[in-house]
Amino acid sequence: MGRIIAVTNLKGGIGKTTTVVNLSAGLALKGARVLLVDVDAQGNLAMALGARPRRTLYEVLVDGAQAADCRTAVRPNLDLIAADATLLTAQPTIARRPDWPRVLDQALRPLRTEYDFIVIDCGGSLTVLNLNALNAASDVVVPTTVEPFSIRGLDMLVTQITRLKGGAGSLCAIVPTLFDARTRQSQELLAELQARYGQLVTAPIRVNVRLSESSARGQTIYEYDPRSRGAIDYAQLVERLSELWRFAPQPTRPAPSVPAAPQPATPPPAGPVRPAQAPVSAAPVVTGAGSMLSLACPHCGGPLRRATVAGYRVAYCDHCRYRRQELAGGTRR
Ligand SMILES: Nc1ncnc2c1ncn2[C@@H]1O[C@H](COP(=O)(O)OP(=O)(O)OP(=O)(O)O)[C@@H](O)[C@H]1O
Ligand SMILES: [Mg+2]
Repeated sequence: MGRIIAVTNLKGGIGKTTTVVNLSAGLALKGARVLLVDVDAQGNLAMALGARPRRTLYEVLVDGAQAADCRTAVRPNLDLIAADATLLTAQPTIARRPDWPRVLDQALRPLRTEYDFIVIDCGGSLTVLNLNALNAASDVVVPTTVEPFSIRGLDMLVTQITRLKGGAGSLCAIVPTLFDARTRQSQELLAELQARYGQLVTAPIRVNVRLSESSARGQTIYEYDPRSRGAIDYAQLVERLSELWRFAPQPTRPAPSVPAAPQPATPPPAGPVRPAQAPVSAAPVVTGAGSMLSLACPHCGGPLRRATVAGYRVAYCDHCRYRRQELAGGTRR
């Protein structure tokens, strides 16, 4: 059974959707099967991924369509149940149902065995749909900006999550977003956050204009600029949460069969190039030239090649499938 992860905060514009996209895309690049679910009527998830889905969550929640029939494949290993403005009119209809708090949970349940992670992008208020997302979630991730009001709001949100879930156990990460390390206030507030929530607080995601540019282009940060600070920070978050959730890279396996969606209007800048039969990811998006290294493969002695994959620097061998990867730490933009 896959985990259901709600990414939530009552505040708007603090990087929830950006976190959902780049956390999920990073997990998918590591070989996880991931389903994204947008419960925000703004429909930003589809835009951020450059997808134009024909069917949406409204059909699942109001018309009783099967969630499986309303998925759109947006990337290898990454499917989406999208939202649009119709979801606004769905809320009163759902609220009238006696089982309203569990409508989303029931709709997603049949898909849980098909995915390692179902990641729900919540809107910025405590709507019927956001409560549904929290009820369905096995794990809750809370992005937050590092500002005085955000931190005060966070205490309220944590109390609500604890009450709703019958304990604080499902809150698994607080992700500081839009972090500007140059200001003393940011540093002090980050330290305050860490003192209050300890290990729950992940390494911050720094302000990086490449992240907003990538969303505007309908690309993940790994496609748009895999060497940017944004790619490196989100790749680190992927590592931290993969470890927490005990997700290990899997050998190639088939993704659920969903009709293909239109691809983003603009292709990734330098790729994709795929190292032959790389065992770590089912279908990695690799950017970079796949250039030759002067090193020999420690396994078979053949030539090693190099590429950058989603914030990782990868050395790989075409002959024996040897692969070594480390977080990219070179030139940052
Ligand atoms: N680390 C970052 N650096 C720079 N810009 C960022 C960063 N994270 C997010 N943004 C930008 O900030 C804006 C808000 O981000 P996002 O849409 O992810 O927030 P949200 O919490 O989902 O908002 P909403 O509540 O409206 O759904 C977007 O334009 C996004 O591209
Ligand atoms: Mg959003």
